[in-house]
Amino acid sequence: MKTTAETVKTTAETMKAVVWDRHGAPEDVLKVREIPKPLPSADDVLVRVRAAGANPYDWHYYRGDPLLIRVMPGVAKAKESQRLGSDFAGEVADIGSNVTSFAVGDRVYGLAGLGSFAQYVAVPANRLAPMPTNVTFEEAAAVPMGAITAMASLRAGRFEAGQSVIINGASGGIGIFAVQLAKALGASEVTGVCSTRNVAMVQMLGADSVVDYTQQDYTRLGKRYDLFVETQYSQPFLRSRRALARRGTFAFAGGGGGRLLGPGGPMLGAILLSAFVPQRVAPVTAKGYRALLSEITALIEAGKVRAVIDATYPLDRIIDAMKHLETGHVSGKVVITV
Ligand SMILES: NC(=O)c1ccc[n+]([C@@H]2O[C@H](COP(=O)([O-])OP(=O)(O)OC[C@H]3O[C@@H](n4cnc5c(N)ncnc54)[C@H](OP(=O)(O)O)[C@@H]3O)[C@@H](O)[C@H]2O)c1
Repeated sequence: MKTTAETVKTTAETMKAVVWDRHGAPEDVLKVREIPKPLPSADDVLVRVRAAGANPYDWHYYRGDPLLIRVMPGVAKAKESQRLGSDFAGEVADIGSNVTSFAVGDRVYGLAGLGSFAQYVAVPANRLAPMPTNVTFEEAAAVPMGAITAMASLRAGRFEAGQSVIINGASGGIGIFAVQLAKALGASEVTGVCSTRNVAMVQMLGADSVVDYTQQDYTRLGKRYDLFVETQYSQPFLRSRRALARRGTFAFAGGGGGRLLGPGGPMLGAILLSAFVPQRVAPVTAKGYRALLSEITALIEAGKVRAVIDATYPLDRIIDAMKHLETGHVSGKVVITV
């Protein structure tokens, strides 16, 4: 998931925003401060944020974990008043001179890349879409990164109606949408993997079967799926591929990995190993956010996809919100209200 450039034009007005200036634990580095309100550049939309969804990317940034993230160009660096947060839902407050597709007052949602944990965020117009008409700001803010990554996982896996899909991490931010999207797009069978406390929720989202990983090993089910959506990497690829059909695809969205490379390490390993086995490994990257979001909007409005919110926190309780997400055991999404 790409982030946007970090240079932001600002005004003399101020706004409340979550900021951090060094890497560390949320209680040590995250602060809520008054900082200058951003100005939209020509291709931007300025959004009055009403709710913001939290994602593992947010803590990867402020923790500087994995270490690779600290040197990657274009991602969040520790610096004075560095902002935080990607997913948002809110109202258009202003538009840049080149923007024709949005008007002040429109309800929108999308991915900022950086800075959505604030009262205002300036976002390139190609990273947002009109909000579904049948959801609240909180529900909309829970959607963008998880649902876009879930859709991108199905695309990376060259998913077609009639295929069977297994999703590891089915109760997480990506998983809840992967289950629903696979069903909505015609999967013959969807199996979700999660722990006992989330089994009922994943069933409710439409999974045909759920594997409780505390009781059962999904690599020993004796079933073979066309597509494996990996969000946790709790087992190595060479074991997980036992759950894949001979020509099946392992869509690697995230999870696993060490302090240095994070998921990049196992992802690279799986890609190299796939040269020696019949199954394909497909790294998941999302392109065309606005088009993907528009497809997801249609499915939400048709009642086929919905967000699941584990907890909401006001902006002032950002530390509690991020500690909750960092447990790695959320049931759906953590949302911040602004
Ligand atoms: N490729 C991309 O563009 C992209 C985009 C977004 C995110 N990501 C990455 O994808 C990963 C997942 O993101 P996310 O938003 O889904 O994370 P998340 O919401 O934090 O995932 C939490 C979920 O993981 C489940 N889980 C924990 N341990 C598990 C295990 N051993 N087996 C199966 N499920 C387990 C938990 O279920 P239980 O409580 O039931 O254990 C919980 O519901 C992260 O590493 C993230 O950085 C990649």
